[in-house]
Formats: sequence, C-alpha cells, structure tokens
Amino acid sequence: MYDFKIEAGDTEVMYRDLASALSGLVAGEPDGIANMANAAALLWETLPGINWAGFYRNVGGELVLGPFQGRPACIRIKFGEGVCGVAAATLKVQRVDDVHAFPSHIACDSASTSELVVPIVRDGQLLAVLDLDSPDHARFTAADEAGCVRLAEILAKAL
Ligand code: SME
Repeated sequence: MYDFKIEAGDTEVMYRDLASALSGLVAGEPDGIANMANAAALLWETLPGINWAGFYRNVGGELVLGPFQGRPACIRIKFGEGVCGVAAATLKVQRVDDVHAFPSHIACDSASTSELVVPIVRDGQLLAVLDLDSPDHARFTAADEAGCVRLAEILAKAL
C-alpha cells in the first residue's frame, strides 16, 4: 500500500511526487505524531545526501524532539537557540550552507554540515519544525526550500 519509490533525479518533480505521497499518507489520519513519523520516513527514503530527517514539536514554547530518522538527537531546544530554535522564534525558514558558521548551531551529529529547517505553522501558531541535515556543504537549494515549504503546508493541516 505504501510502496513509494520516488525518483530523485529532477528536484521539482521529486517534490511534486513527495507532496502527493505525503497528502496520501496523512489523508484521514488525525494523529499528528503518526503523520510526522510517516513524513520523516518518506523524506528519509527519498532525499539523497541527508543524514537526519525529522521534527521538533512546539511543546509549551520549547522545541521537543519528535519523530525522525537518523542518529539520536538532542531532545529539547529553546526558541532562539540553534538553527531549529531560530526557525521557531522567527517563523522563518533557515537554510544554512555550513552550520559550523551558524553562531548558535547545536551539533547533534558532527557529520552534519548543511541544514534546512522549515516552520510548520497553523493560524499563526508554530506547531513544529521540519529539520533536514546533510553531511554535504550547501546540500539544500532554493528548490529544496520551496519543496519543503509545500510539505510543511500539507503537514500544518495534519498535526
Ligand atoms: N542542528 C540543529 C539541532 C537539531 S539536529 O540537527 C537533529 C540545530 O542547530 O538546531
């Protein structure tokens, strides 16, 4: 049933397919944790060159680790701290080519070099952030950002 094999060749086509697959996965399912878990798995299976894909949830004004794929990560992140915390505090996408040059970067995995964090917002409220890490410098392009913003819009209705 969930036998997705999305080709990673053309980034825009890949994200269109990802959006379609994600919409299908979350359709009719009200449990946000389950939906984030499937989204993390889908991204992990599909995106080339990543070493972490997952979510931090906004729990009472603090980011708390949610469903993910990759190595174990730090559990709690304060708003304003690290790439995720800055995304949470500003509600703005953070696309960082080299996290070692990011002032408050939190190193969960020393292999991570670039990072893309997309806030998931509904009715002006932060629900969670989507976090992608890569060992490659400047792995995430404007096309990845646009694609992940679309995925975050889908998830905003499913968390
Ligand atoms: N590097 C992140 C912390 C989360 S991990 O990458 C999974 C940050 O600076 O917010």
